[in-house]
Amino acid sequence: MADGDRDRVREATDIVDLISEVTKVRRSGRTFMAICPFHEEKTPSMSVDRARGLYHCFGCGEGGDVFTFVERTQGVSFPEALEILAKRAGIALTKDGSRSRVSGRKAEAIEALRLAIPILNERLKKAPDAGPARAYLRSRGYGVDVIDEWKIGFAGTDWDTLTRALKGAGVSDRALMDAGLSRRGRHGLYDVFRGRLMFPIHDVRGDPVGFGGRKVDGIDPKLTNNPDAKYVNSADSIVYNKSRVLFGLDRARPAIVSAGQAVIVEGYTDVIAMHLAGVNTAVATCGTALGDGHFDLLRRFTERVVLAFDSDEAGSRAALRTDDLESPFRLDLDLRVAVMPDGLDPADLVQQGRNDELVKAVENATPLLQHRIEAEVAKYDLGGPEGRARALHAAVGHLSRVGDEIARREYARHVARLVGVDLETVEEAMERRGGRKTTTVRPEQVRDNRPLDRWESELLRYVLARPGSGISLEATDFDDPRLRAVFEAVSGDLAAGKAPDVSAIADERVRGLAMALAVDDRPLPAEDDLLVLLRRRRIDARIDELNERLATLDPSSEAYSVVFRELIGLQQERRTPTT
Ligand code: UTP
Ligand code: MN
Repeated sequence: MADGDRDRVREATDIVDLISEVTKVRRSGRTFMAICPFHEEKTPSMSVDRARGLYHCFGCGEGGDVFTFVERTQGVSFPEALEILAKRAGIALTKDGSRSRVSGRKAEAIEALRLAIPILNERLKKAPDAGPARAYLRSRGYGVDVIDEWKIGFAGTDWDTLTRALKGAGVSDRALMDAGLSRRGRHGLYDVFRGRLMFPIHDVRGDPVGFGGRKVDGIDPKLTNNPDAKYVNSADSIVYNKSRVLFGLDRARPAIVSAGQAVIVEGYTDVIAMHLAGVNTAVATCGTALGDGHFDLLRRFTERVVLAFDSDEAGSRAALRTDDLESPFRLDLDLRVAVMPDGLDPADLVQQGRNDELVKAVENATPLLQHRIEAEVAKYDLGGPEGRARALHAAVGHLSRVGDEIARREYARHVARLVGVDLETVEEAMERRGGRKTTTVRPEQVRDNRPLDRWESELLRYVLARPGSGISLEATDFDDPRLRAVFEAVSGDLAAGKAPDVSAIADERVRGLAMALAVDDRPLPAEDDLLVLLRRRRIDARIDELNERLATLDPSSEAYSVVFRELIGLQQERRTPTT
């Protein structure tokens, strides 16, 4: 994209005006102060620099230029922010603008999908063979307004209607196959989807990339492709990667950014139901388990993710086992669980007119771990001492995973209340469990004033086990003085790519901890995950440092400007996912 466009748009945009459109801005001497739209506050802590076209919030650390402001408040990508601001300023972008990154072949496949949507949508509304599909939607309570809003369609029951229509519109055979719409048979191309209700799937930019096709009762299975499958989703293709697509994200994105939370439901009909109930932050995976790719997508827009599945079973089907919770890669997300009343899914609730209950369930979502603990305790009869003991034991198993001491005490208190015992009993049970369960000494058990930082001990455990790995650490990567001491004792060996001899460490306590880490043979975290988190932690540490420095500087000084720029650069860097 032409840098010229970016500069022209930047120059034509007054950042004070732009920010005033979403929040209150007041002049304060030479600078402007705004109520920060990125966090809750009553008194303004966002400083806006009109001359430089930059903003920075001292409260939450958000900052950037006119483009980042639009990206962050509207949840759009840079090219889209550029388009929005260009339009606002009345500037025409040069031709090679925002969409030029898409290769010709991909663009053609996307175009084929884009053209397919209205054809299938018309067919759903008008064609005689779509009658049962219309009846199903009616029974779900989805009228024409919903059909049009979500561009729901119907794939005809004959062999090649869509293929023929698209070829007639000039789409090439290759694009039809690339798009996953057609397949080559003995008599030429035929439709992949037949006799199915079609939900168009868009990527995060809003480009169509595939379809979810639902079987329809009342349609002859012989006229349906793959009739045993309730849902058939587009296969992965040059435009569609199911582990990196969330249905509805293109529409939910602005709401997710402004609400600071995303809601994940099970499927297409549930996303639609959520939006009907006013929860327009809802998205769903498309016929695949929830995985890191989906969390990566969401993490660009929010840190809080609510899982709204109809039952616990569904939750575990979505690959949210304890191991995943433990993945260091997800420790930066605030995962919560919304329990749907009566085990119903969101679509059922909306159909029954129970929108309020649905909204309330989302509002009352509990942190994943709390949910786990509560679900565990609920399995036991707390009426007698036997049941309470068992419940306590089960709950303590979950408690021991909480690395943060403050959170662990919170949870311990919660468990005490739930089970009906006092806090000391819970703490005793935690210690007993710790002592009995392990054959080797776990680092968490090395008695000191507080538990070790889980992330830092995992990091250290990793480099001790893999001295030649791609992770190179510095003492400042460790906040915990005990772990830092271990690192310093072994850093010489690590730097030389040698396996450190932890038994030779002089200081007894440091040696004890180092040995505990070295012999802990639980599975190691993935190196990539560690690298991503390490990078983020380093950026965060630098951001904190710069924030402190900035607060001591005169806003009109050159030094301020230099620090300010570095800060904004870092904030942008933090949001850029590594690949
Ligand atoms: P449901 O079985 O509830 O589907 O699965 P539904 O479309 O809501 O149908 P009814 O009206 O309740 O019977 C919920 C979601 O799980 C995914 C789909 O995304 C669906 O929307 N799913 C379900 C599949 O991907 N494949 C399947 O075979 C079943
Ligand atoms: Mn359903």
